[in-house]
Amino acid sequence: MSMYAVEVHELTKRFRRLVAVDHVSFQVQKGISFGLLGLNGAGKTTTFKMLATLIRPDGGTALVSGSDIRRDPLEVRRSIGYVPENPSFYTRMTTMETMMYFCRLLEIPSETRKQRISQCLELVGLVDKTDSYVGGYSRGMRHRLALAQALLAEPTVLFLDEPTLGLDPLGARNMRELIMQLKRDHNVTILMSSHTLPEVEMICDEVGIFHNGQLVAQDSVENLRHTASDTTSIEVELASRPEEQVIISLRRLPGINQVERDGRRLLIEAKNDHELRPRILETILAAHQDVLFFGARETSLEDILLRILQDESETAS
Ligand SMILES: Nc1ncnc2c1ncn2[C@@H]1O[C@H](COP(=O)(O)OP(=O)(O)OP(=O)(O)O)[C@@H](O)[C@H]1O
Ligand SMILES: [Mg+2]
Repeated sequence: MSMYAVEVHELTKRFRRLVAVDHVSFQVQKGISFGLLGLNGAGKTTTFKMLATLIRPDGGTALVSGSDIRRDPLEVRRSIGYVPENPSFYTRMTTMETMMYFCRLLEIPSETRKQRISQCLELVGLVDKTDSYVGGYSRGMRHRLALAQALLAEPTVLFLDEPTLGLDPLGARNMRELIMQLKRDHNVTILMSSHTLPEVEMICDEVGIFHNGQLVAQDSVENLRHTASDTTSIEVELASRPEEQVIISLRRLPGINQVERDGRRLLIEAKNDHELRPRILETILAAHQDVLFFGARETSLEDILLRILQDESETAS
């Protein structure tokens, strides 16, 4: 048995001259959550559609839950759930009719349908909407219904294309908690795309960064942080305006790139070295300045992503 839920080999998709996905290879371990990142048009949705067997690749292939997307698309469909970017449903059907319709498509045995539908609606918080028409649904409700539908066949792998896009803050938080719950309690492997990077940091164990159809990095956020950034930003707030002498002494410390004064604050760019921090603090205290706040800002996923994409663009040009 493979340890991977998804194994992608040289997957390629062309639209006329455009290579939307260009020989992409990556693996996703069972039971983890994997984030696909990249700018608009990078190839994330096209990759999802190929993995969900909605469009055929022009080259390469992938194994999803052990089945080949080209040779056994039906097997793949039985093991996955897919929530598209813009879920749409028949507007004149009620929630229950919609879910029944999908049960028939998925060949879920008729005696278990009602129970399975209530479990899925319960999970996404739509259980009291069984008789409402889907046409009257808000965007957030449509997203939740799409997830309920994706969960019907008890998938082992779930593809979520921008699952919180357009949701209000509460809806987005509920969706995030639901995704984490599915991973934790139901051992579902999650592949999701999102432009909300703090959300990706919160949910995803690993990320893959797409750029012009290619996968340019794959790692945990923590490891990417170490490789993408060798500097860190430190902010210090003093009880009074920092004296010139402190700034001069700090600038002399090895590993300090930049020191700026902003009112009572010092903004320091330094080498990403934990041993340097106590030395900075000692230097300030030695000048008899009272410190109210001392904090190092972690490089955000946004910084990391933009840095990696910038490096890629520079290498390409
Ligand atoms: N059906 C299609 N016909 C022609 N070109 C397409 C088609 N689908 C996607 N593309 C092109 O393929 C490229 C990748 O698109 P894709 O939708 O995969 O990007 P994405 O990473 O999901 O972007 P976004 O973040 O905006 O959702 C884009 O240049 C897009 O214009
Ligand atoms: Mg997309």
